[in-house]
Parts: sequence; C-alpha cells; structure tokens
Amino acid sequence: MKASAASLEEFLGTSLMEMEAVGLLRTLRTVDSPQSVHINVNARNLRNFSSNDYLGLANHPALREAAFEEWGRAGFGTGASRLLCGTMAAHERLESAIAEFKRTPSALTFSSGYAAAMGTIPAICTKGDVIILDKLCHACLVDASRLSGADMRVFPHNDLHMLESHLKWAATSRAGCRVLVLAESVYSMDGDAASLREMAEPKARFGAWLFLAEAHGVGVFGENGRGLSDSLGVADRVEIQMGTLGKALGAHGAYIAGSCHLRNFLINRARSFIFSTSPPAPVAAAATKAFEILASPEGGQLVGSLWRNIRCFCSARSLADSASAILPILIGDEAAAVSASTTLLDAGFLVPAIRYPAVAKGAARLRMTLSAAHSEPDVLALARALPEMP
Ligand SMILES: Cc1ncc(COP(=O)(O)O)c(C=O)c1O
Repeated sequence: MKASAASLEEFLGTSLMEMEAVGLLRTLRTVDSPQSVHINVNARNLRNFSSNDYLGLANHPALREAAFEEWGRAGFGTGASRLLCGTMAAHERLESAIAEFKRTPSALTFSSGYAAAMGTIPAICTKGDVIILDKLCHACLVDASRLSGADMRVFPHNDLHMLESHLKWAATSRAGCRVLVLAESVYSMDGDAASLREMAEPKARFGAWLFLAEAHGVGVFGENGRGLSDSLGVADRVEIQMGTLGKALGAHGAYIAGSCHLRNFLINRARSFIFSTSPPAPVAAAATKAFEILASPEGGQLVGSLWRNIRCFCSARSLADSASAILPILIGDEAAAVSASTTLLDAGFLVPAIRYPAVAKGAARLRMTLSAAHSEPDVLALARALPEMP
C-alpha cells in the first residue's frame, strides 16, 4: 500500500516555511492611497520607487475623468467575451488609438500583458515550429512558449552570435517551419535594452518573425514614447509588437499591434482573447486618454522629465547613463537583498527586493524605477539612501 500523501494544509505549510527559510517568501503589502510617487502603506507615507508608472499617468486627472465619463455612458461590467457581446465601443476606440500611435495598420487589446503573450504566441507557433528567445525574457513569454509546444531555443542575453546560430539550426533542421524570435525592448529586471537593429537583420535573412515586448519601452523611448523600435527606426521590421497598458500608460491591459491579418487571426485563435470576459469599458477609455496625452506636447514633456530624473539619479550615484527607467543594484544573496530593502523601507523608501523566480537564484537585487512624477529632491534622497556598492 502506498504511503498516503501529506494533507493539502501540511503541504502548503511546509512549502511556505521552506520559502521563508531561504528568503523567498512573498507577502502582500496593501496600499491605502492612489498609486503615485508617494503612497500610504500601513499608515506610513513612502517615497515609491517600485512602480512601472513611468510617466505618472496612473493617477492623472484626465484618465480618471475619461474613466468616469465612460462609466456613466457604458457602465462597468462587459458581460461576456469580445466575441459574444463584450466588444464595447470603448475597446474599438482604444484599438484605433493604439494603431495610430504605433503607426501600424491594426491593434488588438488583451486583459493583461500576460494574457497577450499567452494568447498570441501559441496561436502563431505550435508543435514542430521553433521559438528562439533571449534568456532574460519575461516569464509570460517563457510560459507562452512552453504552452505552444514549439521547440524552444534560448540564447544568452543579447548574444547575437547565438541568436544567429539558432536561426541557422532552425533553417536547416526545421526547414519550412515557422520560426519566431522573442525579445523585449527593455529587460524588466536588468533595465538594459535589446540590440534591436542588430537582431532585425539576421531574423529577416533567415525568414523568421520577431515578437517584441515593449512593456518597458513604450512611454520611455522614441518620439513621444512610441517605443524603442520607433526610436531605432526598426518598427516596420517587427512583425508582432506587444505593449502593456498598465505601466507607462497608467491604465490596465495590453495590446498586440501589427497587420490587419494579425488582428483578425488573433481574434480567431488567441485563446486568452476568445475565452475571457472583456475588460471594463472605463479601463479602455482611460487607456485611450493615456495615448492621447502621450501623443500630445504633454506626452513629450513627460518623457523629457522622466529622462531628466534618470540622468539626475545616475549623476548623483556616479553611474554611467542608464539605458532605461529601471535601475537595478545587484546584491546576489536573497536574504541580503530583503534586508537592504527593509532598511530602505525603514528610511521611508519603497524599493523592492527582486528574487527568484523573477531573477536567477543568487542574482537577487534591489530594483528601482523612476517616474516623470518624481521630484528632483526625491530622486537625490534615494541616491543618498542607497547602500554603497563595491
Ligand atoms: C516584458 C513584459 N511582458 C509582460 C508583462 C506583464 O504585463 P501585465 O502586467 O500587463 O500582465 C510584463 C510585466 O512586468 C513585462 O515586463
């Protein structure tokens, strides 16, 4: 007779204790104020350097107003998936705004970046196809690739030589199959940028397609924050452009921008789109307003303020200029990273400790993010409060 398994409660309790013992236990922190560069947590006001709200739009009055107005017009719940009766006028307006902003023929929105990846990648690639991805790609790209059943080939971070070698392998060993390359314009835990121009050439030469996640690139790079592909002049060489609406755009959700065929195909094949209730119309209205702001002179000014803050921080820490608004300090040991984060918290700064599985084991770090909404005194205060690094 087989020994009986532990009860669920025993399994859960033991697992949580094991996580705690190695510094990997997470708990939730409740914020009792709007998201902004100053937030209230446990009755304390903290300077917030943990958010991806790079332009300070999450609590922008125009986004609130747009959401309230749409709430009055269309209500909140959408009742069904987009394919049943859940396509609201606000969704269509948002997708037109995205396509115009990204200068693509078309766009389709999803309820989150995670859902966009999980819907799109397995719709494009399946068993027998090949997905080639950067080692530091976000979990949603990794999970979506696994779900697709395609053969996965991982290249070391930004290693163009290995990318080319995988492309060569796919062209010879998988001739006639679809080959999809996955990259991010800015890597979310390291803050460095992809060598996009250099990637575009071999992927085209080998007839592969590029899926680019601009989650941390839109709102930060390019004319009025159109993204890294725009700023490097390679947007027309990216077949599938993904972006999120919950970071620099200050709203919620995500999009895939590309051809009209791509949109129509995903409407028919992306399971996270087909089998999920559509997001509330006020959320879509807020995101549409965010694109309007980004495309306006105010958008250009916000991107300018963000980069001023990035330069101010780097100069105060005697660092080379940062590639993005994400500034990590590598610590290594998980418990040491948690302790550094706690010290900063005690001093009034919210700077999270990033640990496995968000990064590799032993590569724990403090991850700071800057926003256009931070004041120079706040940025300088953070620079002074951080531990000295070797
Ligand atoms: C590259 C990338 N893709 C997708 C996501 C997930 O987006 P969302 O939070 O909208 O699910 C993130 C979030 O950090 C990300 O960095």
